[in-house]
Formats: sequence, C-alpha cells, structure tokens
Amino acid sequence: MTFPNRSTQKVYRALSAAGKGTFGTVYKAMIINTQEIVAIKKVLQDPKYKNRELSITKILDHINVVRLKDSFYTTESEKVYLHLVLDYIPETVSHFSKTFKKNQKAIPLLWIKVFMFQLLRAINYLHQIGVCHRDIKPQNLLIDPSTGILKICDFGSAKILIQGEPNIAYICSRHYRAPELILGESNYTTDIDLWSCGCIFAELFIGKPIFPGENRSTQFLEIIRVLGTPTDLEFKQMNSSSTTSITQFPHFEPKNLSSIFPDSTPPEAIDLISNLLKYSPSDRIRPLEACTHPFFSELRNKNLVLPSGMPLPPLFDFSEQELSGIPQNVVDLLVPQKSIPSNNFFFLSRKNEEQSKNSTNNEKDIRANSFQSSERSPPQQQTNPVIQTNNISIRISNQEKSKKKKKRRFFSFFRRKKSSNVN
Ligand SMILES: Nc1ncnc2c1ncn2[C@@H]1O[C@H](COP(=O)(O)OP(=O)(O)O)[C@@H](O)[C@H]1O
Ligand SMILES: [Mg+2]
Repeated sequence: MTFPNRSTQKVYRALSAAGKGTFGTVYKAMIINTQEIVAIKKVLQDPKYKNRELSITKILDHINVVRLKDSFYTTESEKVYLHLVLDYIPETVSHFSKTFKKNQKAIPLLWIKVFMFQLLRAINYLHQIGVCHRDIKPQNLLIDPSTGILKICDFGSAKILIQGEPNIAYICSRHYRAPELILGESNYTTDIDLWSCGCIFAELFIGKPIFPGENRSTQFLEIIRVLGTPTDLEFKQMNSSSTTSITQFPHFEPKNLSSIFPDSTPPEAIDLISNLLKYSPSDRIRPLEACTHPFFSELRNKNLVLPSGMPLPPLFDFSEQELSGIPQNVVDLLVPQKSIPSNNFFFLSRKNEEQSKNSTNNEKDIRANSFQSSERSPPQQQTNPVIQTNNISIRISNQEKSKKKKKRRFFSFFRRKKSSNVN
C-alpha cells in the first residue's frame, strides 16, 4: 500500500502495522524517496471540524514528545482520512512492562528512573505551553530501548486549556483518570496529567494498574480504598460545584502505601508517587520539581549507562523555554553537577510555579490559534489479561444501616454525574 503526499512530493509505503489505538491505525512505513522509516497514523476526519490532534501535534517540539514530520489527507469510499507522519519509535511502555510481567521479572529500577524522568520532563514542556494531554497511559508512551528515549504520543485527546472555560470531564482512560474527572469536574487543570503519571509510576513497580476500576464508581472506590476517603476540603478542591459532602461517602482510612508495593520498591519511589497521587490537584508535585526528587539522583552520575550498556539518553539539556518560570532553587537542583543527597526528602514550594503556569509568551501565541474540533471521548478501557478483576465489596454489617445508605448515595452520586457532563 502506498500513500502519496502530492504537496511534498513524498511517497510513503506501508510496511507493517505498528499499533492499533482506539481512534487510529498506525503503520510502520518507508519514505520511498529517501528510504527513511516513519510511522503513519491514519484517522478518520470529520470534514466539518478542524483536527485538533493535527493542530496540536504541529506545534510540539521536544525530545520527549513525538514529532510530526508531514501530514496529508486521502479519500477512500467518500471518507476523508488524515495521515500524520511521525517519527517511528519501536516500543511502548505498555508492551515493555507486559514483557517483564510475562517473564515474572521486575523492570530494572534504572529503566523506571530513565522513563519516569523523561515522562515528567515532557509533561512539564506540554504544560508550559498550555497543552493538557488528557490521555497519559502506558500505551501512549513510546520508547526506544536502544537509546532509552521516551516520547509521549497520541494527542487525540489533548487540548489547550483556557482558565475559566469548562472542558469535558469524561476524558482520559479510566485507570489513569484523575479523581476530579471521575467526580465530573469540568473546571480542571493540566494537573490531571500528573495524576496519570503517578498511576503509571506505581504500575511500573506493581506490574498492573494501581487503581483497576471496572467502571466510573468502582474506579473512585479503588482510589479511596488505597488513599483513604478525601477530606471535605480535598473533595471540594476536586469538585468545586458539588453540593454533596464527602461525609455522605463510605469512609476508608488511607493504607500505608508501601504495603501495596513489592518489598524491593525504594522508599523514594513510593514517596514521589504519593506526591503525584494527591487528591487536591494543586498539591500534586510539579513535574520538574519531581525531576529533582532523590529518586532520580542516580541519573546524575556521569558514568551511568543503560542496562544494555548504551549511554543514557539526553536528560538534562533543558531549554530556556522548559525552565521559564521554574523557581531558581529547582533549576539549581536539576543540573547533574548538583547531586542530591538521597536520604534527604525535600519538597519545594510550588508558589512560584503557580504564578508562571499558563503564562508563557509561547502559550499566548498558541491560544491565538482557535481549535474547533469536537471533544474526543475517552476510549473504552482495553481489556488487559494481566489485570485481575477486583471484586470490590464495601463491607456492610446488617446493623450499620447508615453505611448502607452511604453506599446508595455513593453510587447514585456517580449516576447523577454521568448525565451532567459539559461539552
Ligand atoms: N510514532 C509511532 N511509532 C511507532 N508506533 C506508534 C507511533 N505512534 C503510535 N504508535 C503505536 O500505535 C498505537 C496507537 O497509536 P495512538 O496514537 O495512541 O492512537 P489512538 O489515538 O488510536 O490511541 C500506540 O499505542 C503505539 O503502539
Ligand atoms: Mg492511544
């Protein structure tokens, strides 16, 4: 199968399927003119709308984000298809971690450090330019095991969030969906991506999703069974417009987080995960601040190599744009020369970051661009054979009628929310 792009004179030959997502088919392809290997993502295009995935992917320029090389349309049986020509990256974090799981092996710690560092760095870049990915999950993280480079892909759900404007809450794949989205909040921020990062981080150690809910309400239950029921304040911070009080929900005490991780998990990792999985969106650790966490200290060792013996990918070549608005104390800690004592857990103030968020010049330019396509609903959760079905049951003793009542209220809260989403 060949695809010509008449405007750039390039002809692409599809070689094999590279992956199948929920919305697009991705091919490994070759540019016939140059023999270069690329990936082509083919998506059905509604001619009434401008394609937001294309508009956003076009502006992205970062080592840890997939790069758009070309784009063109074809018409087949009167249907229009958009083709995004991207760097070809052979693996995904999802496939990589499943391979270890299948062989009953833990992912080497260094790989987790290298991937999580790059993921957080990429998230910082996206948020700096105002882009919220809204579907961060292992299937959307491409990796090249030969170089150790990670790149975020799939901007089909991404959006430039504008403060004060509501957005659809029914977004992001369920297991990685931030609690404010589950609660139906439409005034959420880019902080939803940080929650997803925390879920992925935990999954790399546990070998399966940390919160494997089977539907909207059990997803919330999975979260509160581990992290404890949020306080009333946290609940309000997640769900600003709600008139419901958290006291109407079942009460769970927070678990000791280390009890759900394998014994070999370093305490620094659990500490950082707990700082990403905060109920209050603004309490989640900022992505570059997370990169200075002692968990990543080893990456600053100049003699370090990948488990394969290859050199580490570039990790510290931060551009001015990436560092703009980042507090100086964080910048100082980011550079490799300043190694961080690993026994010293520290958390830096987020205040300066808050001020800089959503305010770069670059972002203003992007906002001037209007993206008109309709919102994309989250894909159905793919059935994952590794995930064990979790049979959630709230223990209700016959005497405790109030608990029963709470359970009814809990589920009816989610039923009501389902029909009241914006957009
Ligand atoms: N640039 C790429 N190089 C190689 N494989 C890719 C690339 N982009 C996507 N894929 C593969 O295709 C799958 C689906 O792509 P994605 O962009 O996530 O589509 P969807 O929007 O349908 O989820 C990914 O999970 C990955 O396995
Ligand atoms: Mg995808």
